[in-house]
Amino acid sequence: MMEKSGEDLPHQAEGVDLTCPTMAEFYAGKTVAMTGGTGFLGQGIIEKLLRTCPDISKIILFIRQKRNIPPHERLSELTDLPAFDILRQSQPNFHEKLSFVSCDLEADDLGLSSDDRRTLRNEVNIFIHSAATLKFNEELRLSFEVNVQCVRRLLKLCKGMHKLQSFVHVSTAYSHCNRKLIEEKLYDSSLDYRELESALRWMNGAMVEKITPEILGDRPNTYTLTKALAEDVICRESGNLPICIVRPSMIIPAWQEPMPGVVHQCIRSDRILRRIWEGCAAVSDSRSTYSG
Ligand SMILES: NC(=O)c1ccc[n+]([C@@H]2O[C@H](COP(=O)([O-])OP(=O)(O)OC[C@H]3O[C@@H](n4cnc5c(N)ncnc54)[C@H](OP(=O)(O)O)[C@@H]3O)[C@@H](O)[C@H]2O)c1
Repeated sequence: MMEKSGEDLPHQAEGVDLTCPTMAEFYAGKTVAMTGGTGFLGQGIIEKLLRTCPDISKIILFIRQKRNIPPHERLSELTDLPAFDILRQSQPNFHEKLSFVSCDLEADDLGLSSDDRRTLRNEVNIFIHSAATLKFNEELRLSFEVNVQCVRRLLKLCKGMHKLQSFVHVSTAYSHCNRKLIEEKLYDSSLDYRELESALRWMNGAMVEKITPEILGDRPNTYTLTKALAEDVICRESGNLPICIVRPSMIIPAWQEPMPGVVHQCIRSDRILRRIWEGCAAVSDSRSTYSG
């Protein structure tokens, strides 16, 4: 986790209690909102929060309609998943702490109703942004829309939240994979996302496809580029928001919690690890298409 400024923490003020609350204490009475809750990582976060923070007030999930399945049905499908089996045993009514807002993260207004906006503004304490397109070679326009523009929209939304204590942005350890050494600090990408935004406005699909390799430069794919640009957005547009950027590396099936081996679906990392264990591969080509 990185502090936004990358600078040293402020000196401790005398008499201020800086002891850290436990996770359960911190989340007691809190309302968490999150994007990407239907995804692999999102499910893990929801499960962990509900299982280990019994006094958490609620979790509001941003869910889009997908394959004609409306958000409320998707939420109900989500809570039936095996990822929640252990939680279900200890807290059979855990779903009562989950609610949703219907969203469209690719839309300028995030597809939120005015009622939902009001609820979010008045209630949310912690915002976790985990949604992203993880397709390595996604078409640049779509990858930019979901992984970069969406962050700008969410920051704007969060600036209006009266009780916000933390905006957690899930990035990736590979966002700056074109560098030899990656430290826990922010790096400026060589590309200005505002210029890319303007260019994408007038370029048609064929033009975007043709120019993508040039835009990527020494980066392997649109995923890593747009995740890096998202960090630039946070750096430039987060203002006074309390920001935390998390850069996980490869997320693989659970080691222990909630139970060993829990996985959302057959994920790319499984296939890569299997090939390594079998001695068939020592490296993986990040330019290939992720279809997991
Ligand atoms: N998995 C890894 O190994 C890994 C490693 C490093 C960092 N990360 C980061 O961790 C985060 C979560 O990854 P994950 O593994 O959980 O991915 P995932 O299983 O593919 O889930 C992606 C999530 O994003 C949502 N999403 C994608 N496009 C969307 C759109 N246009 N509108 C609304 N929601 C959209 C999906 O919603 P739907 O269900 O509606 O599609 C889903 O909830 C991402 O930010 C990723 O960059 C992942």
